[in-house]
Amino acid sequence: MKEFLRVTGIVRIFIFLYRAKIALKQMYQSNGLLTKWLFSSNETTNFTYHLYSVNQKHLINFIANISKQPYSAIEGYISEILNDKDLASHLLEMAKKGKDWYKTDRKVRFGRRIGWYAFIRATKPKVVIETGVDKGLGSCVIASALLRNRAEGFDGHYYGTDIDPRAGYLLAGKYAQAGKILYGDSIESLKKLDEKIDLFINDSDHSVVYEAQEYETVASKLSPSSIILGDNSHCSDSLLNFAHKTGRKFEFFKEVPDNHWYSGAGIGCAYFDK
Ligand SMILES: C[S@@+](CC[C@H](N)C(=O)[O-])C[C@H]1O[C@@H](n2cnc3c(N)ncnc32)[C@H](O)[C@@H]1O
Repeated sequence: MKEFLRVTGIVRIFIFLYRAKIALKQMYQSNGLLTKWLFSSNETTNFTYHLYSVNQKHLINFIANISKQPYSAIEGYISEILNDKDLASHLLEMAKKGKDWYKTDRKVRFGRRIGWYAFIRATKPKVVIETGVDKGLGSCVIASALLRNRAEGFDGHYYGTDIDPRAGYLLAGKYAQAGKILYGDSIESLKKLDEKIDLFINDSDHSVVYEAQEYETVASKLSPSSIILGDNSHCSDSLLNFAHKTGRKFEFFKEVPDNHWYSGAGIGCAYFDK
C-alpha cells in the first residue's frame, strides 16, 4: 500500500511537471505575441490582422456553401480584395494623414471583413447596410465590392450607421461614391430607412439586446433573398434566435487571427436556404 502511494505520488509529480511545461510554453507564446503587439502596433480597439491561412479557406468554404457558388469563385473574390492595390494605397494614405493616425497602423489588414467582401461580390446586393462604422475600414471593403459589382453592371448602394459624428473618415475618394454614413443612433436611422435591404451587417452597439433590436427593426425591410451577417455572433445568440424565429438558417464562421494575441470574432449568418 505504502509502495503504491509512493509510486502514485511520483507519477502525479511527473504529470504536474509535464503539464507545467505545456502551460509555460503556452504562456511564452501568448506573452510573445502581446509584447510584439505592444511595441509594434498603435491600435487601441477594433484590432486588425490577417486570417490564419487554413481559417481563410474555411471562410471561403463557409461563403461558398451559403451563396451556393463554387469554392473557386469565392476564392477568386478573396484574392481580388487581398490584391487590390487601389484600396491598399487609399487606406495607407489615409492612415498617414487621417485624424486617427496615432492609433492606426500603416498596414492593410482586413481580418474577417474579406468575408463581407466576398458575400457582396457573390450575391450582388442592391442595398448593403453596415451598422457601426468606426474608422470606416469595413465601409471601404464594402464600397470596393459594390464598385466592382457596378463595373460589371450590378448596381448597389451602401449605408453605414454610426452614433459617433467623427466615424467613417476612411470612406473617402472613389469609395464615397458607393454610399453614405447615416449619423445618429443606429436603430433610429434604420427606422427611417425606406428601402429593401439585401445584405445587413450588424457591428454597432455590441450588447446582446441592442443587437436583437436592430434585427427586429429591419425585419420587415429585408428582401426575400437577404443575408444577415452578425459581427457579434461569437459571443451573442441574438442572430441565431432571430434566424430561428423567422425560419432562416444560421451558420457561424469563427475567425482565427494570424500572429495576433486577440482570439478573434467571427461571422454569424442568417439566410433562407432555397
Ligand atoms: C466595432 S466598431 C465598428 C467597426 C466597423 N464595422 C469596422 O469594420 O471596422 C463599433 C462602432 O459602433 C458605433 N456604435 C456604438 N453604439 C452605436 C449606436 N447605438 N448606434 C450607432 N452606432 C453605434 C461606435 O461608435 C463604433 O464606431
